[in-house]
Amino acid sequence: MRKQIVAGNWKMNKTFEEADELLFELAEGIEPIELENVEVVICPPALYLEMSTDVGLENGFSVGAQNCSNKEGGAYTGEISAEMLKSLDVDYCIVGHSERRKYFKETAQELAEKVNLLLDNDITPIFCCGEVIEERDQNIHFQVVQKQIENSLFHLTDDEMANVVIAYEPVWAIGTGRTATSDQAQEMHAFIRQILKGKYGNELAEGLSVIYGGSCNAQNARELFAQPDVDGGLIGGASLNAADFLTIIKSVK
Ligand code: 13P
Repeated sequence: MRKQIVAGNWKMNKTFEEADELLFELAEGIEPIELENVEVVICPPALYLEMSTDVGLENGFSVGAQNCSNKEGGAYTGEISAEMLKSLDVDYCIVGHSERRKYFKETAQELAEKVNLLLDNDITPIFCCGEVIEERDQNIHFQVVQKQIENSLFHLTDDEMANVVIAYEPVWAIGTGRTATSDQAQEMHAFIRQILKGKYGNELAEGLSVIYGGSCNAQNARELFAQPDVDGGLIGGASLNAADFLTIIKSVK
């Protein structure tokens, strides 16, 4: 069975004290949950990665960064490299979130470079893709997602690709309270697996985790995760509340 992943993307939220408190609540809540086929990943702001990995190592969850530099290292003021993340025991990194594509103008080429550096450092990229509402209205959402995946991932070898997680996050569903229906999610996830099959073959595509993000919450997670090609979720707002996030973890099939 494919690995199910529930990742919490805290985005730019929480002071140090608040982050510390949330981590403590999560640690307490996660410990008794049967996590046999579920990987829980907490993606806090970079400042809190070190304390998160400390708590995570003791309490059974992994830690992911929200972003990394597309440069290996050196004179790039303000940037954080994949190698630095690895040195803090960070195991995952979100790449190409729609907020970064939109507000920080990240290009497909830059995302490909980030993916390469992360894989070089044994960090699993959580590669985000998804259409804006105008693209869905024009019925070009499948082509849009296909291009995003092809342009930033299809240069990878089979071995490299096998270590990538894909997150489908329809932009119109992010932070809007308007989630994709479970049918819409399943349809796109099956499509993503289909294009992966075409390039990398059946076995690899069937083994890859494709997670859903966009207004996924404690109420709708179970139905979304029940879909055969939805392998968990990338959770924004609802990951900021321990009780909600714990309910979402328990919603995994
Ligand atoms: P929301 O769950 O707040 O819609 O955010 C989803 C997201 O962007 C996760 O990366």
